[in-house]
Amino acid sequence: MAIIWTSKTIAMLPVFTLYLSFSSTLISAVSFKKLPLPAPGPESYAFDLAGHGPRPYTSIADGRIVKYKGPKSGFVDYGYTAPNRSKEFCDGTNNTYLASICGRPLGLGFYLPRKELYIADASYGLVVVGPNGGAATQLATGAEGVPFRLPDGLEVDQLTGIVYFTDASAVYNLSQMNQLFSKGDATGRLLRYDPKTKQVTVLLNGLSAPSGVAVSKDSSYLLVVEAVRSRIQKYWLKGSKANTAEVLLNLTGSPDKIKRTARGDFWVAVTVQTPTLELKGVRITEGGTILETVTFSPKYDTSFITEVNEYKGALYLGSLYPNYVGVYRA
Ligand SMILES: *[C@@H]1O[C@H](CO)[C@@H](O)[C@H](O)[C@H]1NC(C)=O
Ligand SMILES: *[C@@H]1O[C@H](CO)[C@@H](O)[C@H](O)[C@H]1NC(C)=O
Ligand SMILES: *[C@@H]1O[C@H](CO)[C@@H](O)[C@H](O)[C@H]1NC(C)=O
Ligand SMILES: *[C@@H]1O[C@H](CO)[C@@H](O)[C@H](O)[C@H]1NC(C)=O
Repeated sequence: MAIIWTSKTIAMLPVFTLYLSFSSTLISAVSFKKLPLPAPGPESYAFDLAGHGPRPYTSIADGRIVKYKGPKSGFVDYGYTAPNRSKEFCDGTNNTYLASICGRPLGLGFYLPRKELYIADASYGLVVVGPNGGAATQLATGAEGVPFRLPDGLEVDQLTGIVYFTDASAVYNLSQMNQLFSKGDATGRLLRYDPKTKQVTVLLNGLSAPSGVAVSKDSSYLLVVEAVRSRIQKYWLKGSKANTAEVLLNLTGSPDKIKRTARGDFWVAVTVQTPTLELKGVRITEGGTILETVTFSPKYDTSFITEVNEYKGALYLGSLYPNYVGVYRA
């Protein structure tokens, strides 16, 4: 299309520009990108403070934590959780039965001031990878005499360095997830690790598949997701209600991880299986009000969503199955 510049078209320009930008919003309102991974199952994401473009770290099914190095290099090795993990044997596997040999990192979170990457690993418990990556150091394999069976969600409080994490069940492990759901297990725990004392404390017992945890911006409360009961509880860390919990929100479907945004609100990843499969992100306030619901399926063509992690205007989508990182921009 050619535009002949007359004084009349110039006078019309503001209207024309407005129309153009409006129509381009309609056309490309949403973009969905796939960043290929060396193995499937990017369950969770973390971001460091380095001053380059968004470069997610993610925990994948073959036991590695990989880091995005940009479009040319893609994802490269950053760390691993199984102390004697063999690359030859483990790289590329998606077999959950190998988790006890290869490791299966699920929840991820940096303590940014020290660039320490804390990880909830399904087989190796609470571990930490130092600022240069590589092998993880094991920090805890149980609490109050009960061994972890399925460490899952994790968040580090940036103000205190305290690590909050969940053990989804005291009975069922990663290879027994179907039973965990069908039996309606309620033996999960919300836990706290203090790096100063190296002690793990149980904050809540009897949770029904606690899959994710997030800490508020001001460290005054936690939000913990119960995947089987399909709800979110608020656990107070400070104030008159400290050390008590209340149900904040009941959801429809299976919620998994919960992640706080830079603004202070939270994204919950929710899978609805019937009547049609829907993979969603639900954004909520600290009071449990739903601000926004975004449906990623069918473009995000997998069967389960585990995390919605907002970073610099994009949503990074987690799941147990695809061999790519889904990046959604509105
Ligand atoms: C790691 O070590 C354990 C025992 O120390 C052994 O059973 C296992 O097979 C080893 N894994 C690999 C991948 O070599
Ligand atoms: C889960 O537990 C079962 C039975 O105790 C065991 O055979 C299996 O290897 C465990 N799976 C993982 C991933 O640790
Ligand atoms: C959640 O559901 C339970 C059981 O139906 C109900 O008792 C409770 O009031 C609900 N809580 C909220 C915050 O909606
Ligand atoms: C796991 O890997 C096998 C063999 O490579 C493949 O056939 C299968 O589709 C994969 N499953 C998932 C859930 O990615």
